[in-house]
Amino acid sequence: MSLELTDVVLTYPDGERTLTALDHVGLTVAPGEFTAVVGPSGSGKSSLLAVAATLITPASGRVVVAGHEVSAASPAVRTRVRREHIGIVFQQPSLPASLTALDQLVVMAHLAGRSPREAAARARELLAAVDLSGKEHKRPHQLSGGERQRVNIARALMNRPGVLLVDEPTSALDHRRGELIVSLLAGLTRDNGLATVMVTHDLATLGLVGTVLTMADGRLGAADAVPAGRAATRP
Ligand SMILES: Nc1ncnc2c1ncn2[C@@H]1O[C@H](COP(=O)(O)OP(=O)(O)O)[C@@H](O)[C@H]1O
Ligand SMILES: [Mg+2]
Repeated sequence: MSLELTDVVLTYPDGERTLTALDHVGLTVAPGEFTAVVGPSGSGKSSLLAVAATLITPASGRVVVAGHEVSAASPAVRTRVRREHIGIVFQQPSLPASLTALDQLVVMAHLAGRSPREAAARARELLAAVDLSGKEHKRPHQLSGGERQRVNIARALMNRPGVLLVDEPTSALDHRRGELIVSLLAGLTRDNGLATVMVTHDLATLGLVGTVLTMADGRLGAADAVPAGRAATRP
């Protein structure tokens, strides 16, 4: 398994009490598996991704990423595992305004200490994979919302992660563009053998996903709450 969460509990301080954001959550995602997590706002979806991304350490439970147990690891180890094995796509693309699409990607390789020449080649290849050939030199304000989201996705893949974590990638897009993004994620997951977790409340695109799970009040379960015809299916 590329990603394995076992019995994870995450709490936040909430005044005098604590709020349980993840309530004994278990999740395993294999290479090439595209899993969606659906649930209402506040149900714990972003918290789940933050724990899987090693950005937050849970109160208890195990988090294993690409064979590395990170729940009890030092911040330095978590940062290394994140940089080497995890691609993260946040809800709103945070692309520096002054950088071209190509440089948004090249910077990632620079941070990981890779050679600039190899990085530029990889960046061009990824921009082509997300259908942005010819737009390499556009800056964020010269791209549409959907194009920016595709740059964001390509950037997350720059360091060849095994795990891709995606938070509400379609929330700022209309239905057709949202569907294009999800089908792009499905293709990238398959072609690169990624273990992908996409959090969404967009039920319309779930037909493109391999496994659908639901989140409610911090608990993760099978997709029986998903409308008929969109229930969990495995390829
Ligand atoms: N940093 C935080 N501090 C305190 N409470 C938080 C924090 N982040 C999220 N929460 C609370 O945890 C619950 C789950 O939030 P979140 O994971 O963001 O849900 P979702 O992504 O499904 O909307 C919510 O009740 C939210 O208010
Ligand atoms: Mg969220």
